[in-house]
Amino acid sequence: MCGIIGYVGQRRAAEVLTHALKHLEYRGYDSVGIAVKDGSTITVRKDKGMVDEVSKKHSFLTMGGSIGIGHTRWATHGVPCQENSHPHFDCTKNIVLVHNGVIENFQELKEDVLKKGHKFTSETDSEIVAHMLEDNLKSNSDVLSVMSDVVNKIHGSYSFVVMAGNKKELYLARKNSPLVIGIGKGEMFCASDIPALLPYTSKFVQLEEGDLAVLSETGYNVLDHNRKPTTRKEFSVNWNIEMAQKGGYEHFMLKEIHDQGHFITESLASDTTSAKKLLDKYSRIDIVAAGTSYHAGLLFAILLQREGKNAQAFIASDYPFVAVPTKNTLVVAISQSGETADVLQSIRFVKSKSAKILSITNVVGSTITNLSDEVVYLNTGPEIGVAATKTFTAELAVIYKLMFAKERLSSIKNIFEKMLESESEVKSVAAKLKNVKNAFFIARGISVPIAQEGSLKFKEITYIHSEAYPGGELKHGTLSLIEEGIPVIVIAPKDETSSKIIGNLKEAKTRGALIISITNDENIRKESDISISIPTLDDPVLYPFAMIIPLQLLAYYVSTLRGINPDKPRNLAKSVTVE
Ligand code: G6P
Repeated sequence: MCGIIGYVGQRRAAEVLTHALKHLEYRGYDSVGIAVKDGSTITVRKDKGMVDEVSKKHSFLTMGGSIGIGHTRWATHGVPCQENSHPHFDCTKNIVLVHNGVIENFQELKEDVLKKGHKFTSETDSEIVAHMLEDNLKSNSDVLSVMSDVVNKIHGSYSFVVMAGNKKELYLARKNSPLVIGIGKGEMFCASDIPALLPYTSKFVQLEEGDLAVLSETGYNVLDHNRKPTTRKEFSVNWNIEMAQKGGYEHFMLKEIHDQGHFITESLASDTTSAKKLLDKYSRIDIVAAGTSYHAGLLFAILLQREGKNAQAFIASDYPFVAVPTKNTLVVAISQSGETADVLQSIRFVKSKSAKILSITNVVGSTITNLSDEVVYLNTGPEIGVAATKTFTAELAVIYKLMFAKERLSSIKNIFEKMLESESEVKSVAAKLKNVKNAFFIARGISVPIAQEGSLKFKEITYIHSEAYPGGELKHGTLSLIEEGIPVIVIAPKDETSSKIIGNLKEAKTRGALIISITNDENIRKESDISISIPTLDDPVLYPFAMIIPLQLLAYYVSTLRGINPDKPRNLAKSVTVE
């Protein structure tokens, strides 16, 4: 998956593209490139590396012209290198394009194109489309109708932005990969997501699956999947550019951890009325999600089970292979981006079984919202750091609002504020962990999904191997890995699980583990080598909100102490739009 951008208007296109690509870097940062048209000449500059580095090396900002396209890559077909970077030309250098997605039948299409004598300069699946357009344009100069013919031959996912040397427009196509149009005055934009365009506009149109579109400086036109002219709903967002900037913090992740105290109020204000009614109607509830959102789903399933529901959380990528939903199943899809391909795949599968879909997402107008019967928004502003933090607690907030009366949730903001005070304490714990090779996270009951999330956060941004278990499971295998000095992080609020987790803690301690507890239980504190305090809460069901903050901070500080940029961990991307 990648980030793509297009601009047509009066400004210097290279500036807009370079600036917007920085906001899209979270979608992939293997390479960067832009194509700008000045007169009828298209110039492409691109290379392996990140936006600042590549734009400087290839002097992007000296490029003239007020129409252009850009790309930041997360490599799928072909190693990260200059040749495989986008944009890609056809043989004549009259057509240039950027692509986000995966063309599944590309081998077959490539053979066809090769037979016609085209020369390839990259190993990507994307380049074939430039050559297919070139071929078809020989007999038909209408770019949009040619694009329609070409994309009809593609199996897989795509969003394309195409520019032609002899045209003043940009041509767009979208299927199973995000693409939003930004509406300006005398200028038009398109991008993989909204935050990239926030410095320029707050008015947007989301393309739907199978749509084609043309952008000119005066406006846009959309054709639906039957190639009939259509209108798509324009909408405005109230996110502002500051929300998408670091605001004095060294990294987005740290800012987003701190923002939780503020945004939780907005997440708790989300409208859940219709969603609650839907939830009440069903006794079987399947939850589908990926990564961090899956951990929120696990906690949701526990809470629903406690209410007597037949609820289960599934890893979205596997759901179609393991579950048998029926029209009596409510499927709850949780995805902060609303664009995760694995989740969308599950939703499409569910639709074929006539089950109802309730989605929980942060992004207005995202694909998931178009596919769902009911949507609840996280209202937590854009999240830029690849490691999800504020969107996780926002997901929990929405889940809790769906489950409990609002009076029970009024103390969450205070819990966050209190826990953020532990930052310097957590930082000193991080210093002790910066050179370890392995870490284990244990918990019991509703704290288990929090341990799993803490472990995921830790491994994804520190590159240290880590695993999470229900404490009782340690003795069934993992205990063999415990050696002198291996950190075991024990997430242990004083609740009905305390007397059990203390036993698990001792099993690890006897084998030499370094015990770090996050607790308000005096007995657990005494058994620990290091302990981070949490407040005692009247309502034990709220402990997950207290536990998660030190775990996020721990991952952040270990990451930075190891010299890693936590906002852009290697090999990962924020929004994964491939299956
Ligand atoms: C990627 C991100 C994770 C995220 C997961 C699901 O893997 O790196 O941080 O949890 O996608 O994303 P979603 O947008 O569906 O919640």
